[in-house]
Amino acid sequence: MPADPITPRELYLNRRTWLRGGLIAAGMGATALVYQRLNGVDLVVSEQPALEGFVPVPPDGLARGFTTTEPTNSLAAITNYNNFYEFSTDKDGVAAAAKDFDTTGWKLEVGGLVTKPRTYDLDDLRRRFPPEERIYRMRCVEAWSMVIPWAGFPIASLLAEVQPLSSAKYVAFETLHDPARMPNQKRAVLPWPYVEGLRMDEAMNPLAILATGLYGQHLPPQDGAPIRLVVPWKYGFKGIKSIVKITLTDRQPPSTWNIQAPGEYGFYANVNPTHDHPRWSQATEQRLGESGRRDTLMFNGYADQVAHLYAGQDLHVDY
Ligand code: MTE
Repeated sequence: MPADPITPRELYLNRRTWLRGGLIAAGMGATALVYQRLNGVDLVVSEQPALEGFVPVPPDGLARGFTTTEPTNSLAAITNYNNFYEFSTDKDGVAAAAKDFDTTGWKLEVGGLVTKPRTYDLDDLRRRFPPEERIYRMRCVEAWSMVIPWAGFPIASLLAEVQPLSSAKYVAFETLHDPARMPNQKRAVLPWPYVEGLRMDEAMNPLAILATGLYGQHLPPQDGAPIRLVVPWKYGFKGIKSIVKITLTDRQPPSTWNIQAPGEYGFYANVNPTHDHPRWSQATEQRLGESGRRDTLMFNGYADQVAHLYAGQDLHVDY
């Protein structure tokens, strides 16, 4: 990832500016797209259809880490400041490059060390697993962060259906590989397809979800439509987008940024303010829309929910 984690232009993403974009979008109806020019940047406002069967955060959600009291970033900010190298390596260019990404007929294959492998049709998946609201902090390894209201379902629910064998120790994820639809896959900016993985106990943690929505609407292309991983205690690059394949395995799966730069990005990638990136500090972060920097929290503030997973592990070695 680039050496300049955040540039001044990105600090323009303040609440008032984005609210204007949000109001315009609100008046546009479903699947509308409008361009604005603000601060020299073309903004894409993507409105998606509303999710059916949306389940709000339960009353005990705060204690379980399912929500936060911190203000959420606007839909416009979340959908115009993205990392999705299959479309663009410019964070403010992803939305425009991905706007026509067609996910019709999407299939998700789940197999490997399971008793009941199966291929889900996305509509079927949405019906089986109602979208539950989860408002999570998202901390990118580049030292910026947001608060994002996702909708999704626990990976544990999906795994319960396919019934992992006792030999399954890890879960591997794979993004679509189709250069005709993901134009930057024609260039060798990363090894394609983008891949990621979790240890089985990490995948089973209730905080780990497969997201199918954002702000009560279907997931827009730039955020990983139609289905992406969200693991809020890990750096954002673990959140693999546009997943087509999930494989249970007995070996630690490869992960794209670890292949690309093993000295910089580990497999675990737990948010850790005491373990600096070789090129920058991880002690603080820039929350989009805020002026000062915040202290970065261990496990991104989810230590109560996940610290036990790493008891006895040295997180400076397993980083
Ligand atoms: N998934 C794929 N397939 N390709 C990518 O380039 N970027 C990752 C992750 N998932 C990426 C990906 C990185 S570096 C981050 S920080 C998050 O997606 C960004 O998610 P967002 O754009 O929805 O905020």
